[in-house]
Formats: sequence, C-alpha cells, structure tokens
Amino acid sequence: MDHDSATSSGGPTPGTIPLDSAEFSRDPYPLLATLRDCGPVQRVRTVNGRTTWVITGWAEARAALADARLSKDTARFFAGRPSHRNLAPAVSRTLLATDPPDHGRLRKLAMKAFTPAAVARLEPRIREIAARLADALATRGSADLIEEFAVPLPIAVICELLGVPEGDRAAVRRWSNTLFAAGDPDAVVDRASHAISDYMTGLIAARRDEPGDDVLSDLIAARDDEDRLTEPELVSLAVLLVVAGHETTANLIGNGMLALLRDDTLRSRLRADPGLLPAAIEEFLRYDAPMTIATFRYATEPVDLGGVRIETGDVVQVSPGAANRDPARFAEPDAVRLDRSTGHLSFGHGPHHCLGAPLARMEARIAFEVLLTRCPDIRLTDGTGAGATGGTSDGASDAVEWRRARLMRGLARLPVTVRRP
Ligand code: HEM
Repeated sequence: MDHDSATSSGGPTPGTIPLDSAEFSRDPYPLLATLRDCGPVQRVRTVNGRTTWVITGWAEARAALADARLSKDTARFFAGRPSHRNLAPAVSRTLLATDPPDHGRLRKLAMKAFTPAAVARLEPRIREIAARLADALATRGSADLIEEFAVPLPIAVICELLGVPEGDRAAVRRWSNTLFAAGDPDAVVDRASHAISDYMTGLIAARRDEPGDDVLSDLIAARDDEDRLTEPELVSLAVLLVVAGHETTANLIGNGMLALLRDDTLRSRLRADPGLLPAAIEEFLRYDAPMTIATFRYATEPVDLGGVRIETGDVVQVSPGAANRDPARFAEPDAVRLDRSTGHLSFGHGPHHCLGAPLARMEARIAFEVLLTRCPDIRLTDGTGAGATGGTSDGASDAVEWRRARLMRGLARLPVTVRRP
C-alpha cells in the first residue's frame, strides 16, 4: 500500500514500460508480456525515479515468493529512512509484513480461525447473502454487478466472520477502499489507516467484555489465554483480515464474471454442470488474477534469479498476473480453458501463501453458482455510455470500467442486464 508502481514514458523496453497508464489498467497483459519477453526478471524505473525488479516469469516468481532472502518486513527495510508517511502500525506491520520467526507464530494463531471446518460452517450463511443479492439484481433488471454483488458479498462475509456490526460496515469498507485506492493523497490514506486501527481496537475491547460467536472473539481468547499474541498484533491481524478479505474476493467475482459474460459457451457449460465450477474458478484466478500487478519483497542478501543478480536492499515486485500468463508454464495463456492442471500464483506461494484462499474459493463458488441459477439470463450491458470518474473504460464494452491498476486488478463497474427466469 505504501509502495511505488513501476512506470516511465516511451516505448516498451525494460525500464520504460508505462505501468501506471490508463491503457495498462484496462489491459496490463500485453505490456507484462513485452516485459517478460525482455527477460523474466527486469529492472524498471518507478514513478518516484527509484528502480525495482519486476518478476514476470512463472518459475522465477514462484522461486522468489518462497525465497527467505527476499523479506516482507517493510519496517526493517524503511528503518532509518526519512518518510513523510504516517500509516498506523496496525496497517503497516501486519502478518503480511513479517518474517520468521514472528511470522510463523502469528500465522499459526491466525490459522486457528480459518480451519476448513470453520470455513465450511459459513457456507449456508454465504449462500443466504448471495441469494438475497442475486434476487435483488433479478428484481431490478439492470445493475452494476460490482457495486450490487461482487463487493457487498465479501464485505458481509468478512464482517460477519469478525463480528463487525452491520451499522459499521460502510465505514469499514470506506477505510479499506482508501487503503487500496491508487489516487488518494498520502494524508488521506494515513488517516484511514488510523481510523480502521482505532475502530478495531474499540471492537476488540467490546468483544473482550462481551465475547461473541466470531473469529475476533476466538483470537482474543488465543491472546488472553496463551498470551502469544500481543495486543498490537491482535489489532493488526483483525485489520489485515478485513482489508485482505474483501477487495481481492470482489475482484475474483468481478473479473471471473466478466470472463464468463463474454463467453456464452462457457456460461452454458457451467450452468449445465456446476461440478465444473471449481476448475473454472481456478482458471479465472489464473486468467485475471485479483492481485495481478505486484506483491513486494526486499532483498536482505544478494539473490541470483532469472539471469540477473538482485543486490541487498533492492526492491522486488513479483507480478502474479504476469507469471500466470507465462507461455513457458501455460499453453495458450491468454485463453480461458478448463482443462488445465493449475499452478497459478494468484494466492501467492510459500510461507505467505494466502490464508483466506479456502474462504475466497468457497465464496466464489457460491457466488457463481447462485448467479447462474437465480439470474440464468444475465448479460453484459454494452455501450451504455461513459463510466464513473477515475475508471478506465474497456475497449470490448464501453460500460465496463477498470480501476486504476496498482497492486490489484479489479473492475470499477460491470453493468449487467438480468431477465427474470
Ligand atoms: C496473503 C491473494 C482472499 C487473508 C495473500 C497473498 C496473496 C493473496 C497473493 C500473498 C501475498 C504475498 O506473498 O506477498 C488473495 C486473493 C484473494 C484473497 C487473490 C481472493 C480471491 C483473502 C481472504 C482473506 C485473506 C478472503 C481473509 C479472510 C490473507 C492473509 C494473508 C494473505 C491474512 C497473509 C498471509 C501471510 O502473510 O502469512 N493473499 N487473497 N485473503 N491473504 Fe489473501
């Protein structure tokens, strides 16, 4: 959230790939492919004139994600450097920004709340929320699938899981969106980080007084009984879960639905055989990764990778989206095919592999199943005019708009028409 995005002006050569352009947000894959053609690990200049290594090859990305010499500890990396940022520690120092041995301890505790049994228990409730949202779409006839389905579903799920009361969810969503937004000034992002951190501190205090049947209460018990999670660690874990748990999942549902809405044959196949949904979801994850652009690492030692030497202190940006379309790993990488054995890096790889992957997969399976059965005649609404501010309209359909790409790749608007069955 506090990193540079790689950029420059000029033609597509390493170091001058305009990774912050509107064109890149609309379709990053041609540029990522050009970059990969120049080599799987390339040095690229950032908007601030610094340089970063961008990893676009699948084998190199997978190796980097599991390499202990490439650290996630941002605080250590930035220590002693002048900074104008004032992010709340609960946002900047999460499990995701921790190296061993702390990382393993925190992750083990967090995993307690995400056992397969705990995730499976959520299924009926997720189905209920998805059905309510899908029925509302069918009643209205036309809608923005992002605003009215893909975003509210994961927000409701993660908030219920953590025990965030209904009345507070709009604020939590706002703060969380600001933390991920590409265009907000630093001060606004800093303020949102403190607001969400203060909110979670208060919620934890309330749950401690009055425990509920939720993950937060379970984590408080893990902290209080065994004293293995400090209070700041508890707050930062709660913040991470709420932030990591919704925009990514919303992007999976949105990006996947777009691929599905553009392919009538695939839609009919999935409707006829919902058993194909898990394979389709893996392919949607590969084809258009929710976190396409980057996840960051910092070299604590020199690392030889993809024919280059990454020096101590260098910033490394692994691009799951580029790795997922590496022709050396995936045949016909730009096509949606259900017959692949997976191996995508959309949930990362190695020690930081996504903790919420089983939950995200289940949410997506239910979302697609419910949409295909309750809104069988759902279609893209094409050419309805200009889109919302800050977005980027899509060449294939005027009405489809992408958010500005930074770390994530997700739609700002996906207008659909739904006829009642
Ligand atoms: C880590 C993607 C959903 C919680 C990660 C990482 C990726 C990722 C790529 C690793 C980042 C890195 O190595 O630098 C996604 C995607 C999702 C999704 C694509 C949805 C489709 C969720 C959900 C939750 C969640 C629903 C929680 C409820 C986490 C946590 C970590 C993580 C806690 C940090 C794990 C660690 O550092 O050990 N996610 N995520 N994610 N994700 Fe997810």
